[in-house]
Amino acid sequence: MAESTMQVRVKRIGYEAESINSYELVAPGGGDLVPFTAGCHIDLHLPNGMIRSYSLVNEQSERKRYVVAVNRDDAGRGGSRLIHDTVRVGDIMTISHPRNNFVLQENAAHSVLIAGGIGITPLLAMIRRLEGLGRSWQLFYAARTRFAAAFLDELHALRPGVHQNLHMTFDHAPLGRKLDLAAIVEGAAADAHLYCCGPASMLEAFEAATTDRPADQVHVEYFKAKEKPAAEGGFEVRLARSGRTLTVQPGKTILSALLDAGITANYACAEGVCGTCETRVIEGIPDHRDQFLSKEERAANRTLMICCSGSKSPTLVLDL
Ligand SMILES: Cc1cc2nc3c(=O)[nH]c(=O)nc-3n(C[C@H](O)[C@H](O)[C@H](O)COP(=O)(O)OP(=O)(O)OC[C@H]3O[C@@H](n4cnc5c(N)ncnc54)[C@H](O)[C@@H]3O)c2cc1C
Ligand code: FES
Repeated sequence: MAESTMQVRVKRIGYEAESINSYELVAPGGGDLVPFTAGCHIDLHLPNGMIRSYSLVNEQSERKRYVVAVNRDDAGRGGSRLIHDTVRVGDIMTISHPRNNFVLQENAAHSVLIAGGIGITPLLAMIRRLEGLGRSWQLFYAARTRFAAAFLDELHALRPGVHQNLHMTFDHAPLGRKLDLAAIVEGAAADAHLYCCGPASMLEAFEAATTDRPADQVHVEYFKAKEKPAAEGGFEVRLARSGRTLTVQPGKTILSALLDAGITANYACAEGVCGTCETRVIEGIPDHRDQFLSKEERAANRTLMICCSGSKSPTLVLDL
């Protein structure tokens, strides 16, 4: 379970695009919610025990509501399906406090934002913020078709003439084509900050196109894992705080071994993308499998994601 949770009421459910619904969440007593910043997500705790993360799409100055948009993913383990099929207006839900793994650099001279499909959600909140600050930005937004593209009306309503900042691509439409990420990156000023959120293939192409840019100007958020969790097992985990030692058997992750032993751990996605399970490494060499840590953070081996990472050393000593 994630640490800080709260209860909210579902005030409104909206149809945003094919397979995408928005959910407006308010405090049950109508009071203020915990503040958030553009790029933040919250975890929804679902009645079947699943925890799923969703980016906040509304303006960060709003204190009375959180708005998330959920794409129904019929290929997944069922979290988004459950939300679409069972969540109703008036329901009470448990959510985490907002967390930001995809921080907007508000002082950038120019921001280039690239969205693929449901990856528009954190970028929409960023655009609202950049608009509010009067900053310069461009959005390149790829969707399958016009009907699958969420929030187009909201983007157009931001201000007259805003369409000059919007570059839409419908890659499944007749004559549609994919975004040329290399050309977008090449065309961006040297001091621009670049953001990308979308399918793994888009994020990988974006990362390849931005290798020559300073790392602190390149920002990505993965919604899905691009590799499977390490489940080779065959190593020991020593828990420094409790003094317990567990063997991680083949087929198990560190997280599942902990839960099997009745040990409480923080987690949400269980696949290495959300960062909730980040744990300090005291000794040993992790086998990182997440999309959360940067290359430099992985190399430093100071933390690991226990939901998906294994061990390159026979023993890992963790701050648990
Ligand atoms: C920080 C963050 C923000 C996010 N924001 C949003 C958002 O704004 N809107 C949104 O819709 N989603 C968002 N997501 C994704 C969201 O949390 C869920 O992952 C998504 O809704 C799918 O959940 P699911 O249970 O339906 O599918 P999951 O089981 O999570 O599967 C998603 C995909 O992963 C693959 N997969 C992984 N493991 C399995 C498995 N064991 N079996 C089958 N398939 C598997 C499949 O390809 C599937 O399509 C966000 C994720 C993160 C980490
Ligand atoms: S629980 Fe999401 S990264 Fe481990």
